[in-house]
Amino acid sequence: MQLHLGPFQGITDVWFRKAYQQYFTGLDKLYTPFFGGIHNLNSKHFRSDELSPLLNDAGILVPQLLTNSAIELERFALQCHGLGYSEVNINMGCPWPQVTSKKRGCGLMPYPGMVESLLSVVKDLPVKVSVKCRLGMYDVSELSTLLPIFEKTGVSELIVHARTGKQLYKGHAQADALAPLIANCVIPIVYNGDLFESADSGRLGNKLPRIAGMMLGRGLLADPFLAADIKGLACELDNKERAEVVKKFITTLTGQRLKGRRQVKAVPGPMKELWWYLSSSFDQPVRVWRQIRKAALLEEFLDVQAEVFSQYEWIGSGFARKFLQNEEEFSLD
Ligand SMILES: Cc1cc2nc3c(=O)[nH]c(=O)nc-3n(C[C@H](O)[C@H](O)[C@H](O)COP(=O)(O)O)c2cc1C
Repeated sequence: MQLHLGPFQGITDVWFRKAYQQYFTGLDKLYTPFFGGIHNLNSKHFRSDELSPLLNDAGILVPQLLTNSAIELERFALQCHGLGYSEVNINMGCPWPQVTSKKRGCGLMPYPGMVESLLSVVKDLPVKVSVKCRLGMYDVSELSTLLPIFEKTGVSELIVHARTGKQLYKGHAQADALAPLIANCVIPIVYNGDLFESADSGRLGNKLPRIAGMMLGRGLLADPFLAADIKGLACELDNKERAEVVKKFITTLTGQRLKGRRQVKAVPGPMKELWWYLSSSFDQPVRVWRQIRKAALLEEFLDVQAEVFSQYEWIGSGFARKFLQNEEEFSLD
């Protein structure tokens, strides 16, 4: 079973991916957060750290594009090919109104004609083109209409986040709704949505035995051992040893971000985005989060980051617990 890490704008940037791969195992594929606005072949994005072949492993990284334009897809694919990538991914899942109102992201799913036109170039491109979508913007009939188009145009793999766009990230992913749709689909399907602990992957495997892989998301941000645990690669580590590894990962990631940014004052921002998830895997998640959130100045933030590992216990699988509890009760705000 292939395991992928879903892209997270503002969190899973090049520095996260590098540090993650240094300390954890189990992932077969990673994605960049989405690119957009590729107006010409000389776009600055193609010279950015995010895509640099010197900083990224082009063998397992897939650059993602948010577009509804075949010309933009062509440009992006050609340049990514030149940088050594063999696959690009189209974001057809982003649910935010500022994106969907422009018929991009999940907002493209109700328009099969536009999807067909976007994908009309796929067979002529020198890279594979995969799609990450949802069940639909409004309902699952949209995916059902699009599947023959994905097949006909040569989409290499389909990642389905089993929610609708209008659900945003609320409620539960509906794995059951996906099963009948993909029964006869010839494209390899990767399931995404609410995989928070290794038991979830077992349950899902039973429901959807035909899938080619699973994409992990918030569950892995909360507990970076999730991929290794699903594959049974980290059994020998107890929680104390795990805490040590997570601490090293955080220290390395912070160091890389401090080196990589001109504005070091800006570093706590993206680190806090990650900590919102990570804090749920400590024995006192609310306290950890409050301490992290309050630390505004860089020096103070770095001290608090180190302190929480000595003050609180790492217990792992944080998002699984968070999800089980009443959201209000657990609210970290
Ligand atoms: C803050 C945030 C940023 C995200 N950024 C992206 C993105 O750039 N591209 C994308 O395809 N999905 C993005 N996603 C969606 C996740 O990759 C994933 O599909 C989603 O969290 C569902 O999986 P999960 O239930 O395992 O977390 C984002 C989600 C969140 C919460």
